[in-house]
Amino acid sequence: MKRLGTTLALVAACSAAPESNPQGLRAPAPTKPSPDQQVAADRLLAGPDWYRHAVFYEVNVRSFQDSNGDGIGDLAGLISRLDYLKDLGVDGVWLMPIFPTAFKDSGYDIADYRAIDPAYGDLATFDRLLAEAHARKMRVYVDLVLNHTSDQHAWFQESRTNKTNPKADWYVWSDTPGRADIGNCGPDNPRFGDGWSRDETRGQWYYHRFYKEQPDLDYRNPDVVRETLDAARFWLDRGTDGFRCDVIGKLYESPTGCDMIPETIAYIKQLRAVLDEKRDAAGVGPTMVSEPSELNDSTKYYGDGSDMFHMSFDFGFGYFWQLAFGARDKKIVDDAVKMTIGYPKGAQPAQVIGSHDVPRAWQYTANEPWRHRNAALLQMTLKGTPFIYYGEEIGMRPGTQFVVDDRDASRTPMVWTKEGPGHGFTTGAPWIAFGAEPETTSVAGEDADPASTLTYYRQLLAFRRGHTVWGTGDIRLVALDVGTIVAFVREDPTEAYLVAVNLTDEDQEGVAADPLPGAGALAFGDGSLEAGGGSVRVKIPATGAAVFKVR
Ligand code: GLC
Repeated sequence: MKRLGTTLALVAACSAAPESNPQGLRAPAPTKPSPDQQVAADRLLAGPDWYRHAVFYEVNVRSFQDSNGDGIGDLAGLISRLDYLKDLGVDGVWLMPIFPTAFKDSGYDIADYRAIDPAYGDLATFDRLLAEAHARKMRVYVDLVLNHTSDQHAWFQESRTNKTNPKADWYVWSDTPGRADIGNCGPDNPRFGDGWSRDETRGQWYYHRFYKEQPDLDYRNPDVVRETLDAARFWLDRGTDGFRCDVIGKLYESPTGCDMIPETIAYIKQLRAVLDEKRDAAGVGPTMVSEPSELNDSTKYYGDGSDMFHMSFDFGFGYFWQLAFGARDKKIVDDAVKMTIGYPKGAQPAQVIGSHDVPRAWQYTANEPWRHRNAALLQMTLKGTPFIYYGEEIGMRPGTQFVVDDRDASRTPMVWTKEGPGHGFTTGAPWIAFGAEPETTSVAGEDADPASTLTYYRQLLAFRRGHTVWGTGDIRLVALDVGTIVAFVREDPTEAYLVAVNLTDEDQEGVAADPLPGAGALAFGDGSLEAGGGSVRVKIPATGAAVFKVR
């Protein structure tokens, strides 16, 4: 490693004031990767580490694109938008639940694990989606919701008839609203009630960690283990590339623990073995990403780094960024990064700003586009695979109509065109009202605007494409003498970058007595890096962020 102390390098000139440069961009920022980058990306995405190099996109199918004018987005609509996603730089989509549902929890109440809800299409349309996505070298994940079913699922309907039917023990029943072996594992969130509801037909209570229409399966019953693993096989056999595993840490309960207890860990290892059955000789195969039960610590989800999840969301990250911008203090991000450094070798965090469960990035970043952009830059450069939540790339605003619950604020229809009433999403009446200001946040409206959020996302994704370092490089924090600039180095044998993000709307500069791998140049964003005499000085203009290539 070459120390900058021995090489005096003045790298990039300090930037202009943000007023004269509203995008905060000084380095050239193409919206498309070069042909060489694309060749490199194609190679990385065809190898066993493909998911580390991929950019994922969470799609709320119901709100993405309606193809038949009923106001509800569907799989055929999604197929018609795959080229948009490909062009954005997306390599994989995670579909929120598309299975038959009574829609009491936006599809997280599944009534049949082996079918598609007619509102979204059918299995033939799903197969077509897989074929169309694969033809574009894109992967498809489905949401595997195994902790509970819908109360409309045939299993529950049978289970509730009496205490002696063949599925009598597939759910968690009790004569009282409580059971010693469940302990105090009730819902963590008051929106889901107190965990026990009475079923008058059976004359007993049943346990549910979520809404009362979502009874918990009893995984102590081996039939439940077998059936749910078979449901996973069903989707893999069709060619599905993996799963987002919903609240999987909560499968088993005990009086002493409610999340990721040993029985749950053992089940997840079986699920991983099911995925590993599908690997080809090159070791390429389906992968899975978990929703951890602890917002900001996924350690338990990785096992030894090869026998549980390939990826896990650190949901805390998005929150950390918001807090860091609010507090203007990098320590919050630094602490989160330190945690990921402690994960088992092979662990790959999944980086999010928002999701269907939390406020829109727009709200998280205090309605300030610069904060959103800097949060996106962190998302794309920290260690981990980025998962963009649909609409985030256009800065989509929250809605105010709630069909299921207040999380619907983040589940409104995608805004494709400026013009209403259907904004390119539907020719009918949308199932839920658009979010605020659809005329200012649309794909068509932002498409050709060099200062738009969409253009910024395209630039970011084009910038990182095909570089191994963003997918598999190491990360280390750079200790600056100011708290207002987040700074870290990503490096691998091929190259190294210093990322520096200003958390404030004032110019900032900081000094680090920190060796960098080498001299460098501004590669993305806006700022300067001077090195010499054993230290580096980083200057980032108000609201700006910069990535310097330091080797
Ligand atoms: C997960 C989902 C959430 C759902 C819950 C119950 O947290 O992300 O939307 O309500 O699981 O399935």
